Amino acid sequence: MRILGIESSCDETAVAIVTDDHKILANEVNSQLQTHTLYGGVIPELSSREHLLSLEALTKQALEKANCSLEQIDGIAATVGPGLIGGVLVGATFAKALALYHRKPFIGINHLEGHALTARLTHRIAFPYLLLLVSGGHTQILFVKDLGNYELLGTTIDDALGEAFDKTARLMGLPYPGGPQIEAHARNGDKNAYLFPQPLRHKKGLNFSFSGLKTAVKTAIEKEQKPLSQTLKENIAASFQETVRLILKGRLTSVFQSYASSFETFVVAGGVAANQTIRSTLEELTNAYGKKFVAPPINLCTDNAAMIAWTGLEYLSRGISHPLDIPCRPRWPLNDIAQGK
Ligand code: KG4
Ligand code: ZN
Repeated sequence: MRILGIESSCDETAVAIVTDDHKILANEVNSQLQTHTLYGGVIPELSSREHLLSLEALTKQALEKANCSLEQIDGIAATVGPGLIGGVLVGATFAKALALYHRKPFIGINHLEGHALTARLTHRIAFPYLLLLVSGGHTQILFVKDLGNYELLGTTIDDALGEAFDKTARLMGLPYPGGPQIEAHARNGDKNAYLFPQPLRHKKGLNFSFSGLKTAVKTAIEKEQKPLSQTLKENIAASFQETVRLILKGRLTSVFQSYASSFETFVVAGGVAANQTIRSTLEELTNAYGKKFVAPPINLCTDNAAMIAWTGLEYLSRGISHPLDIPCRPRWPLNDIAQGK
């Protein structure tokens, strides 16, 4: 089986083709980073326009790479939410039109489900497993029990973790996206230079909060002489990253303690999973509890269409596709799927 997937929910236009024997025949991504860097963040209207301009060429490119025609495709999957609704509508409508014209089944995909199932494409892991999804838009700890069956254990009550990296970098005058900038600056910094708070640390439950941490960084910066010296930037970056590391370690330790008997594999996904310090902390923790650690390759951790195509494939192989009037949604929590919403 071959599925063509389309992703357009944020600032990446992507088209991919995957097969049921776990091959990625094409994985085309058109990043809009250059456009949005100018503004220090993603501008939704500009993003929708760029999706519209690049989708057709990117689809042709994917088919050429995969050396196949649309007739040889068994189904067309596209993100129908959650995300920036203009972009989602552009990609989903384009995909529905292709499905209608070429008489192929259409599968409408939850973008988060795409992230959640990537490890099954890359590492063939079995259900159930524990997942930490940390990206620019999401921070969630989930049990992936089965296809369409997800239990949310914890989420952020304010900023997403990637967003916290981006906002902190911005406060320091570093360009967007901030995650890689903070990681690079942190390498030479003193992680004990500032003692930043770990919000919700003493609260029960598995939720996260990052806005207080960002405010603490802002207050620390206000007290320093401007422009910030390189050493100061490095120290702030290192202290911020260390605080994030401790927050994640604390929450995940609680999960491992409470749910150890419920899973064998821990998967980490999303753009923040590219951070080596965070990755190795999570890997050490997983090893300490005798579980298996899986992190898909970085280009499949960040937004891509292979994960959308793969999720479509998982559904279609179980005989599930969707009518073309399936709606697009800006908000769509993963645990809603398990409740049939
Ligand atoms: O998954 P992703 O590509 O897009 C979505 O948000 O869905 O994640 C992008 C986020 C950005 O906030 C970026 O700053 C963060 O991931 N990020 C990082 C690193 N690389 C990317 N955060 C921390 N350290 C990194 N090395
Ligand atoms: Zn994403």
